[in-house]
Parts: sequence; C-alpha cells; structure tokens
Amino acid sequence: MPTSHPSGWAHADGALRGPSWLRPPDDANRLVPHLWSTTADKDGTGDLSVGGVRLPDLVANVNTPAFVLDEADFRARARAFRDAFAPAQVFYAGKAFLCTTVVRWLVEEGLSLDVCSDGELTVALRGGMDPARIGYHGNNKSHPALRRAVHAGVGRIIVDSFAEIDRLAEIAREVPAEESGRGIGVMVRVTAGVEAHTHEYIATAHEDQKFGFSISSGDALEAVRRIHGTPGLELLGLHSHIGSQIFDTSGFEVAARRVLALHAQVADEVGVSMPELDLGGGFGIAYTTQDDPADPAQLAAEMSKIVEHECRALGVAEPALSIEPGRAIVGPAMCTVYTVGTVKEVELDGGARRTYVSVDGGMSDNIRTALYDSDYSCTLAGRRSEAAPVLSRVVGMHCEAGDVVVRDEFLPGDVRPGDLLAVPGTGAYCRSMASNYNHVLRPPVIAVRDGDARVIVRRETVDDLLATDVGAMDE
Ligand code: LLP
Repeated sequence: MPTSHPSGWAHADGALRGPSWLRPPDDANRLVPHLWSTTADKDGTGDLSVGGVRLPDLVANVNTPAFVLDEADFRARARAFRDAFAPAQVFYAGKAFLCTTVVRWLVEEGLSLDVCSDGELTVALRGGMDPARIGYHGNNKSHPALRRAVHAGVGRIIVDSFAEIDRLAEIAREVPAEESGRGIGVMVRVTAGVEAHTHEYIATAHEDQKFGFSISSGDALEAVRRIHGTPGLELLGLHSHIGSQIFDTSGFEVAARRVLALHAQVADEVGVSMPELDLGGGFGIAYTTQDDPADPAQLAAEMSKIVEHECRALGVAEPALSIEPGRAIVGPAMCTVYTVGTVKEVELDGGARRTYVSVDGGMSDNIRTALYDSDYSCTLAGRRSEAAPVLSRVVGMHCEAGDVVVRDEFLPGDVRPGDLLAVPGTGAYCRSMASNYNHVLRPPVIAVRDGDARVIVRRETVDDLLATDVGAMDE
C-alpha cells in the first residue's frame, strides 16, 4: 500500500531535497547508463535515441505517449539468461509484456514461455511458440481453459490447488495418453514460507496467500502424492516463485533449501525421483540509482551452487533447473516517451515549492508508481538544457491525485509544454497492466533496431474504445 514517502521535506533554504538516495545531477542532460537499454544514447543536442532511432523523429510519426522497445537489448537479455543458465530452461514470464512479435523473438532466441491466462496462451500460440515449451500458471484455471491448454499440447501445467488436480484428472480421462503421446506434464507450485520484498526477504511462519501448496502444512506432499497416483498425469517436479524485484539470492537460497528438502522427501516417501525443479522469476532491475541488480551470469552461478550444494547434502540427484524471468528481460529494454503539458509550481507548508510536470499519459500506462509506490527516473528527450536542475514530480493527466509517474527527479528548471520526457525501465508490467481509465487510449509499442522503427502494438483508437460499448452502436 502506498505510504507517505520520505520525499518532500524542505531544507532550511526552502528547497525540496527529495529522498536520500536521489542526488542532484552534475549534468541533468546526461543519461545514467545502467537505467537505460544498451542502445540508448543522447547526442549533443539532447535528442535521445534508442536502437539508432531519434525519439523526436519517432514521435513526430507515432505521437506520444509511446512505449519504445529496444529489440537488440531485449534479445541480448534473453540470450544472456539462456546462456548463463544453460542447460536450465528459461521460461520468459509473459505477464511482464507479451505480444506476438515478442513471442517470435523468444522462439528465435531459444527461450520457453510462461503464460498465466487463456489470453496469454492465445498470444503465445499465435506467435508460434512450440506448445511443448509453454508453462501454464494460475491459481484459478477453469476446466475449459485447462482443457484447451491440454489439447493445444502445453508442456507443463503448474498446478495450484487440489481442485485443479481434480480438473486435470478429469481432462486426462478425456485425452487418452496414447493420443497425447504422454501424460499431461504437471508441476506443483509450492509456498516455501519465504516472503520476498523489494530489497529484502523475511522468512515467515505462515503462508497466507492465494498461490501454491504449503510445504509446512503437508499440502505440497499430498498434492505430489495425488498427482503421482493419477493416471494420465506426469509429475515433472516442484515449482517455487518467491516474489518479484528481488536483488539478493539469499531469498532463493532459503526457498531452494526448503523445496529441495521436499523434493528429497518425495523421493524417499513416494518413491519418485522428480526430474525437474523450477525456481521461478523475480530478478530485480534498476529503476533508479538506488537499485543495483546482479547480472544473469552471477545469478546463475549462485543459484546453481545453492542447488548443487543442497542436493549433495540431501543425497539426491540434481533435478533439471528452470527459471521464469520476466522483468529482468523486458523491463530495461523499454522506455516510455511522453509530451509535457502543464508545468505548475505548488507552494507547500513551510514555503517550499514543488514543480509538477504533467505529461500526456499517467496511471493508465504506468500504474506501478501508484500501486506499489515504485520509483522511476526520467530525462528530457528532445533538447539540451543548461537550466539548473529542480526537484520535480512528473504526474499524469488522469483525474486522480495519486496519478504520479515519477515521484522525484531532478529535471532542468526550464521544462516547458511541448518538451519530450522519457522514462526508462517501463518494459515490465506497464503496457501489460495498462488500462483505459478515464477512457484514455492505451499507447502503442514501437520496436526499434538498427535505425528502423516498427509498430508492434498499435495505439488504441476511439473505435477500439467504443467497440464494447453496446449503447454506442445504437444510432
Ligand atoms: N513466475 C511466476 C510464477 C510469477 O508469478 C511471476 C510474476 C514471474 C515468474 C515473473 O516475475 P518477474 O521476473 O517478472 O519479477 N505486477 C508486479 C509484478 C507481479 C509479478 C507477478 N508474478 C509489478 O509490476 O512489479
């Protein structure tokens, strides 16, 4: 839940100082490289380019707001995970951002795909993902959705409840094994009693959440037994996802230890050596200078060491590992470009003044600031400015006071209507969580690469907006 934020206190001189991690930049024109996709660059005029495409030129054609996706960067991050974790399978978490073009890139880069709804499954299949390489998640998969997934040949269903095991057992009876070639591949999602937060984790005694089977209550073992005893279901292994935007592998370590203890218990008590183990996603990225993420090679080295060590200690064979990164692949690969509208100075108690910079999007294209109290950064994208940096708050155009895009950033003091602002790190959970709040049209996604720009998700139109409004068709 959003809480009061440490920003906003005034200095004795009346200037706002912002949160402690945010320092006034020596030069507000410069990019902070690790917040941006690898091809992002600013030239001497202050024009921001990504993938060799100058954003002022791009938005002259596509308008703002727009998501700009750096294709080379996305592919490089996908490959980095693939290579670092090989032979582990890397399932890109489609919930972070998915469209058919991205699915094609994943296919070309040799990744697998995690989906969690019938809609995501549809996009995955339409984009040409081999169904055998799809993992299907969700705490409330309906009977028809499961049936569709099984008939499509989805490689693994990650089960989340006893009710779902019953549904799958019924579907398995409808699809004889000789038809599917094997049983329905099933993983058991478990809760390991590790609660991951943004920068830290705390081990919890209780697992009070909707996902997974609790290890400590015995439900997880019972789920394994039931699946093992169900004809037509093929038990692949355990699955654990401890949370998102995690920087420290110690959370994975605690989870892996508990999950592998169960893995060994299954071998011992049920007599099944499960071939696989999935440790989920959740690897953090840098949204601001306060974030310092590990790279895939580091993560892979640490995680495989943990698994190797635990398996040796437990005397079990190492299961084949898989992971599900979403944010760490697409997050840094995208930025959002907005046009500045109203700029307003507001006098606060004590006489300090805050600059509110309004842009032509907001919580409908990035709900994360309002929903999770997330921090972002931003930069002027279409000109250089020598004006002294001023602590500013970038807000959207929605009819809601909590409609904040970037809570605190030092922007040149002469930011004015018509300026372009770009926000990095918006690839994950921004377009995918976008809404039509206030009947605003959702922005397009433009892929850029080697000087070319390609619309991969077009901007919504008023016709799209009215298409489901039955009354609008009564003429
Ligand atoms: N695997 C499972 C089972 C998941 O539930 C998730 C994310 C992932 C993988 C991918 O996690 P990632 O690597 O992207 O962190 N809307 C929130 C994040 C919710 C994540 C839900 N599950 C946000 O904007 O931060």
